[in-house]
Amino acid sequence: MSNLYLIGFMGSGKTTVGRRLAERLGWPFTDTDEEIVRREGMEIPEIFSKGGEAFFRDLEQAVLLELSGRAGWVIATGGGIVVRGRNVEIMKESGRTVFLFAREEVLLGRLAEDEEVRPLLQGDSPSARIRQLLQERRGMYEWADLTVDTSDKSVDAVVGEILQHFGRADRNDRAV
Ligand code: S3P
Repeated sequence: MSNLYLIGFMGSGKTTVGRRLAERLGWPFTDTDEEIVRREGMEIPEIFSKGGEAFFRDLEQAVLLELSGRAGWVIATGGGIVVRGRNVEIMKESGRTVFLFAREEVLLGRLAEDEEVRPLLQGDSPSARIRQLLQERRGMYEWADLTVDTSDKSVDAVVGEILQHFGRADRNDRAV
């Protein structure tokens, strides 16, 4: 296996799980949002206010393309990376992907008071916006090699499930 990608809605725990998973595997870790911020020298909300969502998505795609050329990295992605079909192809071609799922009410709880760092949730009703985005993105994450429901699990339990799955795949078919 080359890279291990983590996808899922905002608040699903991709960065936290990704860091812990990378530690356990002894692999390097990165996050597409952090790479974008580092390269642009601007925080995500600033990037959105400067060029809108399309500008952000272009940067995100360029970063993903570059990271996909690496091998043996754990890569956490932004929640909207799946809205561009090409990004899905890039991830499929360059590694395995884990979808971190969480129930809507769990996401609403985790994302409460977090909207200032997430430009797509700014406005009068972040919870209505979350519901709308969940609706728009329904079905877009389900292509992943593994889905883990993180709703009622600790970070270590989620990481354990991922390691167990890919460890088993390795023994069975040398896929990892
Ligand atoms: C976004 C998710 C964010 C970030 C940006 C857009 C999205 O990442 O990429 O604010 O469209 O869902 P997280 O999923 O890490 O919050």
